[in-house]
Amino acid sequence: MEQELLSLQAEARKNLDQIAEQGQLEDFRIRYLGRKGQFSVIMRELGTVSPEERPRLGQLANTIKAEIEKAFDEKKAVLSSSPQSGAKGAALIDLSLPGRYPERGSLHPVTQIMNEVCSIFEALGFSVAEGPDVEHDHYNFEALNIPAHHPARDMHDTFYVSESILLRTHTSPMQARIMESQQPPLRVIAPGKVYRCDSDITHTPMFHQVEGFLVDTKVSFADLKGILTVFTQKMFDKDLDLRFRPSFFPFTEPSAEVDIACVICGGSGCRVCKQTGWLEILGAGMIDPEVFKMVGYDPEIYSGFAFGLGIERIAMLKYGINDIRLYYENDLRFLSQF
Ligand code: DAH
Repeated sequence: MEQELLSLQAEARKNLDQIAEQGQLEDFRIRYLGRKGQFSVIMRELGTVSPEERPRLGQLANTIKAEIEKAFDEKKAVLSSSPQSGAKGAALIDLSLPGRYPERGSLHPVTQIMNEVCSIFEALGFSVAEGPDVEHDHYNFEALNIPAHHPARDMHDTFYVSESILLRTHTSPMQARIMESQQPPLRVIAPGKVYRCDSDITHTPMFHQVEGFLVDTKVSFADLKGILTVFTQKMFDKDLDLRFRPSFFPFTEPSAEVDIACVICGGSGCRVCKQTGWLEILGAGMIDPEVFKMVGYDPEIYSGFAFGLGIERIAMLKYGINDIRLYYENDLRFLSQF
């Protein structure tokens, strides 16, 4: 009987050592420690040994059983805290889950519209030119027929770097820069950043414009209308009506502000067009003879038109965005929609 107890102890220890998963614990418990387990069987046999031997053997059996129970509890604790094993561990590593891919970025909506504007004009024979953001007063104002103290300067809310250097307030200086270094015929668009000390729901201190101009002999206002009509139709994918309102810019004469029929309501009046049915999208006109004279072109020979449009404004109309500041907050929930 004693021999039997000792070999059962050795066998149970060995089996317990080999258990590596929680699922195997219950089998072990039933086999050795349960009501019909091997220890219970031996305990029942105690009744058959001699009364002198019974107390010693009974005590030995109890000690061995207690030891195995303790080892069993310890094993159980170890296995349940290990993340690699058992039912709990299996849930943590799910091999059927798809992998995690790096998220792909996309072009900023302003960049997208800018690219679109450029490609429409490139298809019309315009070439793209870029110039400096930090500009001379001369190109930003003087060469565009806006001398010092001209009231038109007030509209520009200029950031000055020094008395004669500033952050360009529009892309129009590119007209003067290109005309002074090249001869007509010219068809150029100049996209880029511009800066004005102004900030609210429809203004940011930095925004984007595209300047366009064409110089040749016998260029007329009809050419300007034709080019802008094609551009707006392509840009908004619609046959939109255009409206030219008389306006004033020192570098064009005559000048106009150009409206398109509201892209939201089609002209019947809504909140976006403030019930007018029209949306202003750009400024334009015939290049002023004074501008030609300053770059050395003969205004008796050459004529041309120019226009300037705001990219954020076009993107707002195209995508129905009502707050210009959203472009520069870099909130991915906004940007990922484009
Ligand atoms: N530079 C003007 C502005 O920023 C826009 C503009 C108007 C550009 C008329 C032009 C033009 O070329 O002809 O407000």
